[in-house]
Amino acid sequence: MRLLLLVVPSQDMIIMMMIFLFLIGSAVALQTNLCLEEEILLLPPVNFTIIVTGLSKVLLHWKPNPNQNPRIKCIKYNVRINTPDEDDYETPKTQSTRVNVLHGGFSASVQTVFHCDSSFFQSSWVSAELQAPPGAPGTSAVNLTCVTNILRGDVSLHCTWFVGKNAPEDTQYFLFYRFDIYTEECQEYKKDSWNRNIACWFPETAIDRKGRGQLAVHVNGSSKKIAIKPLDRLFDLHAIDQVNPPVNVTAKIEGNRLVIQWEKPVSNFPRKCFDYEVNIYNIRKDYSQILKIQGNSFSLVIDPTSKYSLKIRATVHFTCRKNGLWSEWSQFIYVGEDEPTHLTEWLLAVLMATACFFVFSLFFICRVCQLWTKLFPPIPAPNTQVKDLFLSNIYEKTRFGETEIEVISYLEDPGLDNLDDSVF
Ligand SMILES: *[C@@H]1O[C@H](CO)[C@@H](O)[C@H](O)[C@H]1NC(C)=O
Ligand SMILES: *[C@@H]1O[C@H](CO)[C@@H](O)[C@H](O)[C@H]1NC(C)=O
Ligand SMILES: *[C@@H]1O[C@H](CO)[C@@H](O)[C@H](O)[C@H]1NC(C)=O
Repeated sequence: MRLLLLVVPSQDMIIMMMIFLFLIGSAVALQTNLCLEEEILLLPPVNFTIIVTGLSKVLLHWKPNPNQNPRIKCIKYNVRINTPDEDDYETPKTQSTRVNVLHGGFSASVQTVFHCDSSFFQSSWVSAELQAPPGAPGTSAVNLTCVTNILRGDVSLHCTWFVGKNAPEDTQYFLFYRFDIYTEECQEYKKDSWNRNIACWFPETAIDRKGRGQLAVHVNGSSKKIAIKPLDRLFDLHAIDQVNPPVNVTAKIEGNRLVIQWEKPVSNFPRKCFDYEVNIYNIRKDYSQILKIQGNSFSLVIDPTSKYSLKIRATVHFTCRKNGLWSEWSQFIYVGEDEPTHLTEWLLAVLMATACFFVFSLFFICRVCQLWTKLFPPIPAPNTQVKDLFLSNIYEKTRFGETEIEVISYLEDPGLDNLDDSVF
């Protein structure tokens, strides 16, 4: 048997509902009235300022216009970034943080906006800007690249750049990075032949080990001759993170198969996240092939009479994060017959040939020397004054073994003081 329960609204409830409906109705009417007003006057925000709060980071802030009609609730702001890259967004707040390169200056505008049903009202714009930092064109560092890597549990950072083409010889560059709220200056620079810094190495940093977020890098400089323009770059961490190479790589030949095994790189990513590339080089046939592998081992049919060298590198698969860089290659591993290779034979031949050449050259040089002394024996310097002589013939007869050589010299310049220095 079923019991049907019927709820009959009491009189109190009906009155309450009516009051509620009335309230909603009047609120809608009020809003509609406001929206129907032809002129909703929105005033632009006041005191709009841009402040640099970190490397490549600015805070935009403004105040609501104090003369704004207080009947208009739910006012929002439209922020427009003009330089360096155009961007447009709305916010109910009166401030906004932006991460942007600042070496070319920064400018933005903001306006008050109000959405009402399907209508949209907006104020005029107010703008503010940061001037580009001073510096002569062509003096900033160029082609700045950075790579991160997990080293002994810390994230290391390595950056390189080139000297600007108009940077004077006495230019010195300085590198800073910012990750989140941490900013650090480089302590270990590499220098070029003019002693200018062209690379930097941070063995440990405050960078997130999972490779999330952005890294801001700033390279500025100084010179006694001209102002050096700074350079900013933002890097997506996943794009510059280089995983370590695979470890414990082993290879053996079983029958006619080459069996290779390895372990995943030292990394925060689990085993399933890695893709590998194996480079196998047949030393005897001078032939190499590259195989793409998922997993930590594989085997392939080979020629067991050849010697092979192989190396492996790793990268993180896109299912675990956006694609980054390949690791360095692992150390070479050698497997197979260790027969004397063509290379050693060839080296031996080259060595022999070189030795022969030397012996022959020495012999030849000796012969030439002997001949030379025979052809041009040392001439005794004349002791007599020869100033008055217009032409002098020096006959000299020398006897070397069987050969008789006659040397005839013509002294053409009567003004010569020192005959010892003249060359016949
Ligand atoms: C805007 O800045 C001026 C000068 O600093 C200040 O006097 C004024 O009170 C500010 N306005 C608001 C609404 O904060
Ligand atoms: C910087 O990179 C550009 C483009 O990749 C290249 O053309 C230029 O030669 C590089 N500059 C230097 C100094 O290597
Ligand atoms: C380089 O930038 C750093 C960090 O912004 C700053 O402290 C330093 O004074 C700047 N150096 C030069 C030479 O501009």
